[in-house]
Amino acid sequence: MSSLDLSQDAALRWPASLPEPEALGFGLYMAPFAVSATHEAGEGWSKPEVLPRAALGLELASGALQYGLSAFEGAKAYRAPDGTLHLFRPREHIARLRRSAARLCLPDVDEAAVMKMLQRAVEVHRDWVPPAGRGALYLRPTLFACEEGLGLRAASRHRLVVLASPASNPLCAPKRLWAERELIRAADGGLGAAKTAANYAASLFGAQRARQRGFDDALWLDAREHRYLGEAGAANLFVALDDRVLTPALDGSILAGITRDSVIALLREAGHRVEETFISLDDLQGWQQSARLRDVFGVGTAVRLFPVAEITWGEAGVRPPPAALSAWLAHRLAEVQEGVSADWPQWRLAC
Ligand SMILES: Cc1ncc(COP(=O)(O)O)c(C=O)c1O
Repeated sequence: MSSLDLSQDAALRWPASLPEPEALGFGLYMAPFAVSATHEAGEGWSKPEVLPRAALGLELASGALQYGLSAFEGAKAYRAPDGTLHLFRPREHIARLRRSAARLCLPDVDEAAVMKMLQRAVEVHRDWVPPAGRGALYLRPTLFACEEGLGLRAASRHRLVVLASPASNPLCAPKRLWAERELIRAADGGLGAAKTAANYAASLFGAQRARQRGFDDALWLDAREHRYLGEAGAANLFVALDDRVLTPALDGSILAGITRDSVIALLREAGHRVEETFISLDDLQGWQQSARLRDVFGVGTAVRLFPVAEITWGEAGVRPPPAALSAWLAHRLAEVQEGVSADWPQWRLAC
């Protein structure tokens, strides 16, 4: 497969009638090109190429499809008010991809090479990055075993493909969460800290059950006691009390969210005390009863920040009050991510 002259293939052009940025949603419109590189055992990585996404097949007998040997990232490119494009915290996304790869016996990737692939994916689709403040180009670097052959082993052939998809600004509407006390998403020593397909496969059934009960998503708890807060489907959680802000500690069973890290830094910068700790459902209830519970919110690249209006488990639950902290933080995070504020320049890399 040779790389494509982007001016040629009209059939792969962006749909002529792409909706307004507010109607893009998330992950519904896949950009037509992908930046792809192949790794052969003993030879290393090939030079990345821009290829039509539709031309990239998936080997049916691959470790990716048969055994879940894949890892991915979800990063965003934004258009700043002056029209320039930047990636938000790409180094951290690449570092996490490398950690996920190591856990899944996938080959290591070179930070500089992946960075160039991300920048190229934005460059190729630069007209499809939504206008400033109205969305982002979501990037999905996906690293997977593509060698054909059955039998569980580390593969000798892998691909890294950067997909792109323009997305609306997240709505940041309040969510109601069902704390799942029967199913588990990840256990100690498992894959929870890796961004890999298996974790999402493990969580879908619980998320569907939560929705059938009338909630927006499941809240995942620790696998041992089913008491301690883990994370929501695609978001890390924060609990604000009267004197400090808490977030579940990175115990290896939840994802080390890059938005989580940004939020901790922004909160500390604003003078808040932030603790990474263990938070039980009983704690939540006690804080609500003593009127210490000020705010609960979830954060992630796709969702940005949503307030949590309710957490329910069985007959019990808490209803955090609508709070000023999450409203302020959603605004602060957006202005830093989008380059409206010049603060934290080290988090934005020009494309
Ligand atoms: C399970 C899970 N937890 C947390 C997050 C938040 O991580 P980040 O802020 O790096 O997007 C995500 C992001 O998609 C996720 O899938």
